[in-house]
Amino acid sequence: MNNAQPLAQIQRPIVLAGAGKMGGAMLSGWLARGLEPRGVSVIEPDPSDEIRALVTMGVRLNPSPGDTGSVATLVVALKPQMFREAGAGLKAFAGPSTLVVSIMAGTPIAAIEQVCGGAVVRAMPNTPAAIGRGITVAVAATNVSGPQREVADALLRATGSVEWIDDEQLMDAVTAVSGSGPAYVFLLAEELARAGVAAGLPAGLAEKLARETVAGSGELLHRSQSPAATLRQNVTSPGGTTAAALGVLMGPDGLQQLMTRAVAAATRRSRELAK
Ligand SMILES: NC(=O)c1ccc[n+]([C@@H]2O[C@H](COP(=O)([O-])OP(=O)(O)OC[C@H]3O[C@@H](n4cnc5c(N)ncnc54)[C@H](OP(=O)(O)O)[C@@H]3O)[C@@H](O)[C@H]2O)c1
Repeated sequence: MNNAQPLAQIQRPIVLAGAGKMGGAMLSGWLARGLEPRGVSVIEPDPSDEIRALVTMGVRLNPSPGDTGSVATLVVALKPQMFREAGAGLKAFAGPSTLVVSIMAGTPIAAIEQVCGGAVVRAMPNTPAAIGRGITVAVAATNVSGPQREVADALLRATGSVEWIDDEQLMDAVTAVSGSGPAYVFLLAEELARAGVAAGLPAGLAEKLARETVAGSGELLHRSQSPAATLRQNVTSPGGTTAAALGVLMGPDGLQQLMTRAVAAATRRSRELAK
């Protein structure tokens, strides 16, 4: 996470299209990491108060294409359906050598190239990006240069870690694991709390125990070098209470089978959405 190109040295101007949850998190990460606000333009029809406040720092809001000059990097953080409707308006911001970084789910490189042109990097972040703890998977089109790939890497790393892949087909499975994955973890917290209530705990206490257990265990996993399986084994005494629960969770039709089916369903849906 720390070997990224310093953002202060990145070629500008950078145009961010869509400053919603994810685009806004990226912009905050860039500015916190030294990107010069005057080098950033934001295209956003309904800017939040936070985004409006950045204008006083020098960020430009809704410039016309003629005002931005030759754009080095265009970051597209629109909803995919918005892109289909409004993407053509972005074409004016991108020249043939503009790096176009898209974080839109289920939108293939070819579709982005068709609308925006440029040299496209397709990326899939996830929601812990909002606290700088996301993981993003990125894939570059063949016309993306080495230096452009470094720029994309640095911009994406502002919200967490980045993994690069060569095969765009893997993006559907990536979406199913890390893109949608935070929802599975939140569901785990919900169901652990519900099970606690079923076991006799007051709802408020069950919710707090489940929440802190999921959050604390996630942090432990994050800080540890050990695989998740080792951490699990470390807290499972033979014949103990944890072993009794894991006998259910790891039994036939247990979590492994359930998770495999869930990820396969999300992968299939991602493929369908890309059509
Ligand atoms: N959030 C996540 O966890 C997550 C994870 C992985 C990938 N993504 C991807 O990130 C992208 C953005 O998601 P999000 O959650 O950040 O959505 P979002 O909060 O709805 O952000 C999209 C933003 O784009 C704005 N917008 C609408 N039309 C526009 C136009 N013509 N030009 C410029 N901006 C326009 C929207 O404004 P209005 O509010 O006025 O419509 C909104 O502020 C999606 O493609 C999603 O697949 C998100």
